[in-house]
Amino acid sequence: MVRRNYPLVALGMVLLLVATLAGLSRADFNLLPEQLAMSHGALMVAGFFGTLISLERAFAMGNTRAYLVPVLSAAGGAGILAGAQHAASLLVASAAGYVLLSLRMLRFMPNLATGTMCLGAVALLAGNVLWYLRGSAPATPFWGAFLLLTIAGERIELAQLLSTKAGVKRWFMLSTGIYAAGVATTLLDYSLGLRISGAGMLLLALWLLRYDVAMKSISASGLPRFTGFALVLGYLWLIAGGVLGLAYAGSYSYDMMLHSLFLGFVFSMVFGHAPVIFPALLGRNMRFLGSFYLHLILLHLSLMLRLAGNFISAELTAWGSLLNAASIFLFLANNAAGMIAGGVKGE
Ligand code: HEM
Repeated sequence: MVRRNYPLVALGMVLLLVATLAGLSRADFNLLPEQLAMSHGALMVAGFFGTLISLERAFAMGNTRAYLVPVLSAAGGAGILAGAQHAASLLVASAAGYVLLSLRMLRFMPNLATGTMCLGAVALLAGNVLWYLRGSAPATPFWGAFLLLTIAGERIELAQLLSTKAGVKRWFMLSTGIYAAGVATTLLDYSLGLRISGAGMLLLALWLLRYDVAMKSISASGLPRFTGFALVLGYLWLIAGGVLGLAYAGSYSYDMMLHSLFLGFVFSMVFGHAPVIFPALLGRNMRFLGSFYLHLILLHLSLMLRLAGNFISAELTAWGSLLNAASIFLFLANNAAGMIAGGVKGE
């Protein structure tokens, strides 16, 4: 079964690499043609994350037909690379399939966690449709919601095991409701919507810091400790993203608001969870290496540099962006090294 994951994971990695180079091109490094640089957000979120997250879901369901969803998003991402006309329609079709998979999961497990992930799936569909019809800017808040709600849904599943208090759930639902309302408002008034969603993001970040098991993992050792650090650092960037959203002041703070969420929060989560997800998808063991801390530290320091650049100099922002990309490349190299050292499962 894991064999069929290999080509999709490989294509996902290609999309991640090109999306990162496209990000650098947007940050004035001019590495790729204009059309690819302008597809940076679509390649990252709809292409790379759309493929990997739906692949994880299809694999967990053990359903062959469900694989059509990651196949469609990988094909859509490859279509963007090839400049194909129908790339966007493939990504819309894949997101629609992902909504169906999520609804099916909700039917079997009707709880807050799967409900939140389902809302995330709807956000991906809305984001991809908006990208198809109107381009990246209107799609971006919805792409952010896809990733934030998917991750929050997965984390609440674990937190629920720890706390059954009604107030804990209410705080989560209120934050998610404000956040989702803000994202929807961006369709009518972009600035107002970003401010409202910023408030929701801030509340969600505080919820995660307070109730997530991450804080407890920090006092463990090895991989759980590393994951705990990655999660807590990610939640701190979510606070930063929320504050920047609340105080949204046009293009000046836009890049940092976006990447506090997309790099500071989302990628810190990716770094923390990848040592479990990659081995599961690829049927290998992962040996935890102390060098994993290098890509984690580099991600957060380089993002601080990028943020500081907004106040000091554009050159500093450029260095921050370059090192952001380096942290992603180092992450891939370190995880590959950990899996090679871990060997094949069962051996
Ligand atoms: C690796 C380093 C990265 C660099 C150097 C980078 C750079 C940029 C730049 C310069 C912009 C334009 C911002 C503006 O218009 O003010 C941008 C936009 C955007 N970025 Fe990134 N980015 C990176 C990583 C990411 C990641 C990991 C994600 C998603 C998980 C992401 C998602 C987006 C989105 C959705 C947009 C807005 C849509 C678009 O303009 O394509 N970026 N990025």
